Amino acid sequence: MTAQEIRRKYLEFFESKGHTIIPSDSLIPQNDPTTLFTTAGMHPLVPYIMGENHPGGKRVANVQKCIRTTDIEEVGDTTHHTFFEMLGNWSFGDYFKKEAIEWSWEFLTSDQWLGLDKKRIAVSVFAGDEDAPFDKEAFDVWKNLGISEERIAKLPKKQNWWGPAGQTGPCGPDTEIFYWVGNPDKVPKSFNDDHDNWVEIWNNVFMQFEKSKEGKYVPLKQKNVDTGMGFERIVAVMCGMSDNYETELFMNLIKKIESLSRKSYGNLENHTRSMRIIADHIKAAVFIVGDDKGIAPSNTDQGYVVRRLIRRAILHGKKMGIEEQNWTSLLAQVAINDYKNIYEELERNEKFILSAIEDEENKFIKTLEKGLRELDRIAVEVSLDDKEFAEKKIAMLQRGIILRKLTGKSIFDLRTVYGFPHEMVEEVAQERELVIPQREWDEANRLFEDHQKLSRTASAGKFKGGLADAGEETRKLHTAAHLMLAALRKVLGDHVSQKGSNITAERLRFDFAHGEKLTDEQKEQVENLVNNAIEKNFPITVTEMSVDEAKEKGAVGVFDSKYDEKVKVYHIGDGDETFSYEICGGPHVTNTKELGKFRIKKEQSSGAGVRRIKAVLVEES
Ligand code: SER
Repeated sequence: MTAQEIRRKYLEFFESKGHTIIPSDSLIPQNDPTTLFTTAGMHPLVPYIMGENHPGGKRVANVQKCIRTTDIEEVGDTTHHTFFEMLGNWSFGDYFKKEAIEWSWEFLTSDQWLGLDKKRIAVSVFAGDEDAPFDKEAFDVWKNLGISEERIAKLPKKQNWWGPAGQTGPCGPDTEIFYWVGNPDKVPKSFNDDHDNWVEIWNNVFMQFEKSKEGKYVPLKQKNVDTGMGFERIVAVMCGMSDNYETELFMNLIKKIESLSRKSYGNLENHTRSMRIIADHIKAAVFIVGDDKGIAPSNTDQGYVVRRLIRRAILHGKKMGIEEQNWTSLLAQVAINDYKNIYEELERNEKFILSAIEDEENKFIKTLEKGLRELDRIAVEVSLDDKEFAEKKIAMLQRGIILRKLTGKSIFDLRTVYGFPHEMVEEVAQERELVIPQREWDEANRLFEDHQKLSRTASAGKFKGGLADAGEETRKLHTAAHLMLAALRKVLGDHVSQKGSNITAERLRFDFAHGEKLTDEQKEQVENLVNNAIEKNFPITVTEMSVDEAKEKGAVGVFDSKYDEKVKVYHIGDGDETFSYEICGGPHVTNTKELGKFRIKKEQSSGAGVRRIKAVLVEES
């Protein structure tokens, strides 16, 4: 089945169930100043979920273009994208759980439609908590369809709740549908949502609550259904592939990147990752610039996102040795050709897209050359007193290389003058074997924050959609890192010490000494401890003292300051409880209540005896 056949079948199926087919809305939200992009099919439909009449009636279905920048770090694996299409069907106060689930099942498994193997399907439903009860209704519908109880996971809000899209608005429990993409003869009897071979393909959300400003879940007058099926994923599943980038939706882009770079896809892990990032980012840039709104790369709002997508793709191209001039617009042409029959706006705006992307490449190449020359010039030698890197310095000396580092000021300059975003600085430094101590990152963030304060534009608040570079976000994550270190020590023991930390506006990455992989239970305990501390509204206070005094008082942290020098020690807690006490340069928020919800996204090894956690803060849901 081709991709276009799948789109057509989906719409035909829901038309046969009384739905009006509506076109994809713009990628740029019309009336929602809080986010930069349409992030889900339901996003433009919020007014109808809240009770407005939709001209198409109470049942509609469509294929919606979406951009999600929050997942940008995951792009590079087999299933994540910044641009994707979402197949969705909606009930605005019409049908509810029974019909929605039964139709999903029929569409996926009936031979007349997708004909997927029932034995490879598993689902999850909402387990219930203090805000809303266990979704027994959804559970029973699945059971009646013949899914065994072992294949129906009952999961908490973190997995089985969707929305609101902003801080307030419609939301509700959901039921997710997973497909086993591993060996069909070895489908496990029971379902474990952590296993990579169980891929989520469809989410049915039952929007029956509205989250209020006070954080209360108030039942909505009308009960709605919002479903979203990731198109790239279902296409891969239908082709029996576990890598979305091998499907026709990416194949031409990947082939073009192969010929430009003279490398083969799937050969080397890091090249394959770079190819996926390039294909994803250029396609996303094509769709944003091609969206009839005339958005070109710039330093604000959506234009800034496009700029970052194109520039990131270019850096990955450099890594793979692509030298051809204007290669990004050659690639953009491939994306336009692939999609213009379905999204006519790409054809309409073809010239604008190509020239915008070409201009951006030329600009960036010039800046990049200057920036890279600058980077080589401004790196300074790491001193042997710098305990964090002393060993590395000696090891490098044995290879005849002097270990150098980037200072906070130079990172700041690279960022503001030469347009290198955080992750680029990181990548380029790594390539050149330069190190960046956390305190230099902190310094860079502090400088950047001051700079932001001075030049804050009216649009600064709009970066909530995931690419916020504001100091506020890094400040919050920095405080979260302290809470996490304290929590890790409570759960795993006092041997846990910080080995490195790296914070961007989007996430926190933290390396620490510990010999074993964390169990799910341990991760959950850490998350709970951190979230409890957040909920206790602990103030954060700072005191200056000598290193000796800090040690004596039991502070944790890196004690590499010179004798007698004063250090800052941050205290998180209240009169009854000290949750965290840590030496640090700051900056931090003033109260934990500012943080939202803390979530661990990934836990993995980062060298012998060192573990790495990636974590994020999300708006409370
Ligand atoms: N809004 C839900 C999602 O984005 C279902 O469409 O997953």
